[in-house]
Amino acid sequence: MRKLIVEGGRPLSGSVTISGAKNAVLPLIAATILADGTSVIHDVPHLSDVGTMNELMKFLGAHCSFEGSSLHIDTTGLRGDKEAPGELVRKMRASFLVMGPLLARRGYVRMSLPGGCAIGARPIDLHLKGFEAMGAEINMGRGYVEAKVRRALKGNRIYLDFPSVGATENLMMAASLAEGTTLIGNAAQEPEIIDLANLLSVMGARIKGAGTSIIRIEGVKQLKAAQHTVIPDRIEAGSYMIFAAAAGGTVRLNNVIPEHMQPLIAKLREAGVKVACGDDCAIVESDGMLEPVAVKTLPYPGFPTDMQAQMMALLTRARGTSLVTETVFENRFMHAEELRKMGADITVDGHTATVNGVSRLHGAAVSATDLRAGAALITAALMAEGRSEIGELQHIERGYERIVEKLQGIGADVYIHED
Ligand code: UD1
Repeated sequence: MRKLIVEGGRPLSGSVTISGAKNAVLPLIAATILADGTSVIHDVPHLSDVGTMNELMKFLGAHCSFEGSSLHIDTTGLRGDKEAPGELVRKMRASFLVMGPLLARRGYVRMSLPGGCAIGARPIDLHLKGFEAMGAEINMGRGYVEAKVRRALKGNRIYLDFPSVGATENLMMAASLAEGTTLIGNAAQEPEIIDLANLLSVMGARIKGAGTSIIRIEGVKQLKAAQHTVIPDRIEAGSYMIFAAAAGGTVRLNNVIPEHMQPLIAKLREAGVKVACGDDCAIVESDGMLEPVAVKTLPYPGFPTDMQAQMMALLTRARGTSLVTETVFENRFMHAEELRKMGADITVDGHTATVNGVSRLHGAAVSATDLRAGAALITAALMAEGRSEIGELQHIERGYERIVEKLQGIGADVYIHED
């Protein structure tokens, strides 16, 4: 079994370069389905989730190849008539992002129902309701969903009950090739939505308002292949900020867009961490003395749910009691149990975790229950006394490129052990 071994209690120093954003690149890959030809996406991180998306694209008939960190996707041979296989779709819920583009291009799509991290029911009803509003007929069977459209998708007014990131992306892609105008109300406003709109615009789509709660898409007849560079990963960057805040020391992050990280930076400052921002870099300085804070996850520009676990881990050693409230996902406190094994004092009641700061954590054998829970355990392990062994590394590798190398580069005593 592969484990990440972390010897805790060492301050960090040096600089780390942040990779392209996983959550931006997955919809960007799906968007290339909308045009024939070869699209090129630059700054693509080498992650297992990207590998899964590429496998799905290959299964659908596209050709994907890497040149360094540039991903070339040739969609010329793409077909829409095959059912996307369960093992790929269950591995990663973002696979579902190919549904909008396939429906718009081919008029028919059948997919196994998606899987992904085990953090709540994560239904896809908002995606499907949106496709239906655009004239698609939806059929659900045992473990699969099928959508078809007679002639072409038709633009419509769609109001999302919740600003779902994936639904906004899927509908934006489908609407780009629909007849007429689509308005998505209560749209997600995440930076990844703007990145997708930017690629779609270069491909010839007519989109206004991406990054606000109302997106207007005027459908066009055809889109063309394009080139695009992915935005930096704000969640990876945020995780390294928290690693530095937890371990203490001074760490510089290169390739970040600090504006995308304001909700986290505000909370870190409130907790007593110094964060200085440049145009595309940030410097985090911490003496490891942390004040308790209250954190509530919300859709962007609120505090990101993908940083909740790491923040909770950081607060386990604050001087007092912190409250962490999760409002985006139903079941996203699985890391609390693992953090307790390292000496953390956390009580979960419904959507809120009460974190009573302790003076010391100790190393332990723990398991990454999901991707961000894995980063939370690294946070705790960096500030714990002694050695920690973190299992289920495959979850961490879904979203953190070359994490061992990057952590070693800023002075962490970490390595992979296989037995
Ligand atoms: C994306 C991110 C994920 C992040 C999440 C919230 C990607 C690849 N993943 O996931 O890392 O944690 O945004 O910021 O970008 N919901 C419904 N019905 C739907 C769709 C969603 O009820 O049809 C609910 C979900 O169950 C969840 C909430 O809405 O409780 C947020 O989900 P959503 O914004 O769709 O997240 P994802 O796009 O899946």
